[in-house]
Amino acid sequence: MSVRFPVWMNLLPTVGAVSGAVGLVTVIAIITHYFTPAYWEVGYMPTQPGSGFSHQIHAGKLGMDCRYCHTNVEKSAEANIPPVSTCMGCHTDGMLAPAFDPKDKVEFLRTAWAEDASVPWVRIHKLPDYVRNFPHHVHINAGVSCYSCHGQIEAMPVVYQAHSLSMGWCLDCHRGVGDAIDGHGDPSQFLVPKDKVTDLEWVEKIYLGELAGTAAQRATAQAVLAGIRQAPPENCGACHY
Ligand code: HEC
Ligand code: HEC
Ligand code: HEC
Ligand code: HEC
Ligand code: HEC
Repeated sequence: MSVRFPVWMNLLPTVGAVSGAVGLVTVIAIITHYFTPAYWEVGYMPTQPGSGFSHQIHAGKLGMDCRYCHTNVEKSAEANIPPVSTCMGCHTDGMLAPAFDPKDKVEFLRTAWAEDASVPWVRIHKLPDYVRNFPHHVHINAGVSCYSCHGQIEAMPVVYQAHSLSMGWCLDCHRGVGDAIDGHGDPSQFLVPKDKVTDLEWVEKIYLGELAGTAAQRATAQAVLAGIRQAPPENCGACHY
């Protein structure tokens, strides 16, 4: 009888099974890593159709407070998108000095106003439905800056998602603040003075920049910590139905 296969080939099924298993694990890891919303939503920046509205101009250059437009953010769970009437306060013909009037660029507003429509907007931040209504007001009133969750909006011509909004991301901050309440840990990276929550440039450059780690910054954060109602929740029921 002729030898059709060399003996070492008996190992092949084993090698195949082992590398197959390793390959499968890798594929699963890649899918979980890249295809879970937690990862692919960072940087999510849909085109805002027909708008051209810029936070960099309005909140940055013109220095408008977030609450001028997102009027409910410290009063209710939801941060509202402003109605066209808010924009028309400035963009009605003749309201702005001719040198500052963007004229044609706000034609879409005049159309929306005439049609009683809303500001064109594609939603960016969205938690899954099995997460309870996210409470903006509780966070704002506790001294959590918009900057901690939305990044440097004042510098964004078009808003994109700066953080994952994953469960681990929520809990990192909740645990950090909880540790600070226990007397371990440092609240200064999570909590800012309440009158500065919407001053994103100050928060980034001064508070988390120049002042970071100084005794003054820590003392400020400790004072804010003393005013929050409770340790941020880590129990499932607080965030899930
Ligand atoms: C002049 C009004 C105005 C001001 C001031 C303003 N916004 Fe907005 N904001 C809007 C409008 C309109 C949209 C929706 C359209 C868009 O994003 O182009 C929006 C969208 C957003 C979104 C994205 C919502 C989503 O998930 O789709 C975030 C986050 C946001 N604003 C945060 C802020 C923060 C933080 C500030 C203050 C630094 C601020 N805004 C100031 C009008 C404003
Ligand atoms: C407090 C006054 C004020 C309000 C309120 C306001 N704007 Fe403006 N907007 C301005 C001024 C001033 C400019 C021109 C700024 C510049 O070019 O330096 C401008 C510029 C613009 C531009 C042109 C941007 C560009 O690329 O040049 C658009 C589009 C615009 N606004 C849309 C909106 C929308 C949408 C809203 C409501 C959500 C709004 N604005 C609310 C004052 C305002
Ligand atoms: C602790 C984190 C956190 C802070 C602080 C925060 N946001 Fe949000 N924001 C979120 C999350 C999470 C969502 C998505 C909510 C959802 O899907 O129900 C969101 C959504 C939004 C939206 C979209 C509208 C909506 O209700 O879905 C706007 C506008 C917004 N935030 C503005 C702001 C402004 C302005 C501030 C500061 C004054 C702020 N946010 C502070 C986490 C935060
Ligand atoms: C940067 C810090 C930070 C992040 C990020 C954050 N939280 Fe919080 N959260 C807090 C603090 C501080 C409190 C406690 C406020 C208080 O009790 O005054 C809190 C309280 C809460 C509460 C309790 C509300 C109540 O009425 O008692 C819920 C629910 C909650 N957070 C959900 C979330 C969810 C969901 C996310 C992620 C999408 C998130 N938080 C991200 C800081 C944060
Ligand atoms: C501070 C708020 C918060 C708390 C507390 C919390 N979750 Fe979540 N959870 C979230 C958010 C936000 C998401 C959606 C984002 C994501 O998928 O990571 C989520 C997603 C999930 C998912 C979907 C799978 C996944 O990770 O994508 C499961 C399962 C889950 N949570 C179980 C739990 C259990 C069990 C507990 C208690 C031990 C718990 N959660 C406590 C905020 C919270």
